[in-house]
Amino acid sequence: MNVHVFSEITELSAYLLANRKDKMVGFVPTMGALHQAHLSLVEQSQAQCDITVCSIFVNPKQFNRREDLINYPKNLEKDIEMLRSVNCDVLFCPSVDEMYPDTNEKAFDFGQLTSLMEGEHRPGHFNGVAIVIERFFAIIQPEVAFFGEKDFQQLAVIKALVSQLNLPVQIVGCPTVREASGLAMSSRNERLNEAEKIAAAAIYQGLMRIAENKDKASIAELKTQFTEFIESNPMLTTEYIEIADESTLQAINTWSDSQAPRAFTAVNIRDVRLIDNLPINP
Ligand code: PAF
Repeated sequence: MNVHVFSEITELSAYLLANRKDKMVGFVPTMGALHQAHLSLVEQSQAQCDITVCSIFVNPKQFNRREDLINYPKNLEKDIEMLRSVNCDVLFCPSVDEMYPDTNEKAFDFGQLTSLMEGEHRPGHFNGVAIVIERFFAIIQPEVAFFGEKDFQQLAVIKALVSQLNLPVQIVGCPTVREASGLAMSSRNERLNEAEKIAAAAIYQGLMRIAENKDKASIAELKTQFTEFIESNPMLTTEYIEIADESTLQAINTWSDSQAPRAFTAVNIRDVRLIDNLPINP
């Protein structure tokens, strides 16, 4: 079956008006360069909803580094082919002008949820994510929207956005999908060569070491050991490693500070920035 591809809001809205009736619409927002983890979100949506809308939009408002925006991988033809292979119903791929006809910037406040990690290291990033997601929700009006747990802090921000604005949409977090090496799937992995992909598997190994050695060292020591382990390979640098509570996203200093601790990291390999996280059983 063909994917219905729309780049204009009026066309998408007309399609949805004619087809949704009593049906549930599931939404999978992406920035393209699709991989298996995106397809697993589409499949989750198909399992729960009647119509699945995937979006591809490289949102300039959420990039705090211009080179990252310019270098972000793009391959629309291949993406459409992948969506067709899983029978996704609709692809919405708007232009920047279609998404942002006016230049007013809304400022959100997510409090402590964005004080650390990606919020601290990528100023303005989550505001840009919130702006685009609010706009997508207004255009598509999905009953359910699906986000990967690789971007765990983003998932928390989206849930906060929905609760702040009382939006009638259910947010579903889906488990991180990994390569056989453990490397979390990410569109940015496309920018790595084979040697770099092998090196980047250390990110997951490092997080696993924290989980395994949890009772053998303090949190501070485990964080230091993580950085040493990552940086024992000169290709890799640790931007941050944090152990935080899953619901407050505030750092903890001892395991007893949290019922649900999670390790979060950002690691740079050349100019490619990779993030990952892992729950640590208390
Ligand atoms: O996770 C992403 O790919 C993006 O942040 C999202 C949710 C599509 C918003 O642009």
